[in-house]
Amino acid sequence: MDKLAIVGGTPLKGEIAISGAKNAALPILCASLLTAEPLEISRLPNLNDIATLLKLLEQMGVRVSKTGQARQPGEGDTAVLDASGLHYPVAPYDLVKTMRASVLTLGPLLARYGEARVSLPGGCAIGARPVDQHVKGLQAMGAEITVEQGYIHARANRLKGARICTDIVTVTGTENLIMAATLAQGETIIENAAREPEVVDLAHCLNRMGARVSGAGSDVVRIEGVRKLHAAQHRVMPDRVETGTYLCAAAATGGSVRLTQTSAACLDAVIDKLLDAGCEMSLERDAITLTAPPRLKAVNLRTAPYPAFPTDMQAQFMAINCLAEGTATIRETIFENRFMHVAELQRLGADIQVDGNHAIVRGVPALKGAPVMATDLRASASLVIAALAAQGETRIDRIYHLDRGYEHMEEKLTRLGASAHRTA
Ligand code: EPZ
Repeated sequence: MDKLAIVGGTPLKGEIAISGAKNAALPILCASLLTAEPLEISRLPNLNDIATLLKLLEQMGVRVSKTGQARQPGEGDTAVLDASGLHYPVAPYDLVKTMRASVLTLGPLLARYGEARVSLPGGCAIGARPVDQHVKGLQAMGAEITVEQGYIHARANRLKGARICTDIVTVTGTENLIMAATLAQGETIIENAAREPEVVDLAHCLNRMGARVSGAGSDVVRIEGVRKLHAAQHRVMPDRVETGTYLCAAAATGGSVRLTQTSAACLDAVIDKLLDAGCEMSLERDAITLTAPPRLKAVNLRTAPYPAFPTDMQAQFMAINCLAEGTATIRETIFENRFMHVAELQRLGADIQVDGNHAIVRGVPALKGAPVMATDLRASASLVIAALAAQGETRIDRIYHLDRGYEHMEEKLTRLGASAHRTA
């Protein structure tokens, strides 16, 4: 069942629970490699990317036991990971090419095992996505690294603390280097570090394991290396991109929804743009309510590293701009090819011009359902939002992209009153 059929035109109404954050869960799962003691992780979202990474870790010798299935929506799974039997520090191409975040095993393997053979992730739909900054930082800590036949071969007796300033702000690069530094000899300082909330959630988990990480969330992170890490329990933070996606779906359909088990704390830039678009918001400690106006106002965007407007929300906001009153300019500064959703939105009747990393979106009175194709994770979310607001039926093909990052999406949409179901 590779298509999602959506009949648009119904304002979303009701309440759903948000799942654990994919982009926090992925590095935290890799942190299990840093210790021979069990790491219990709860609120793991039931996603293909998570399943792929668990399969990779099991291939390396990590024992994975799922101790709890989701009891209520948004609760996710609980798993205990035991890397005492780690014996195969290899991340093979066939797995890495389907899930580039596998590169997050590189730092932990080097730190605890002293060697790693990790396939280069290769590019993806949204860009070349090199990992040169990951390699540069690990070399600064004393790792010997060569790249042969598409694999990163890395060795280190014991990594040494270093001062590293990355050339570019990189989320998984920062995460890889923090994990590697937790077991290095001496202090590591990472300057120009990514400030994303998922980096902070990883640091919280590492410190529960006995690491000494400070400054996570700022652009200078300090890690005092220790000899070993120990067992811990960690509950993954809510997914701020899933939260933003459902807020956009409600905004685009003129609806009113309440999202629970989430927080606006990591979404300031997104909340501001929804308020500018004319939405009413009520923010509680662990819930957000949005009520949309009859028609949104166009909002300009420029993506940039956290806390600025997140690139992972750019495609979703392009969708809401398609029907908004006025003209919006969108500038994508993080990835070189993250407008793959434009051609598909144009099939629904959107008026969008692209010039390099700059898009001009002129709001139209209506979109009309049509067959479209998902090209990457957030582009597929953009098509879902547009389909929910379009007149008639839209069939979105290749929705395996959606399954990588959105847990039970059609169930959640149906609960909000949408007509959405999988079909061949
Ligand atoms: C993380 O990817 C996220 N993935 C992405 O989310 C997100 O879009 C991205 O950060 C930016 O916020 C995970 O956390 C698993 P980067 P990451 O390294 O770490 C360049 C989603 O939709 N760069 O911060 O791979 C790179 O090409 C995904 O959930 C280098 O040049 O992104 C890009 O232009 C998509 N050299 C920029 O930096 C490097 O060594 C930012 O990339 C590393 C990155």
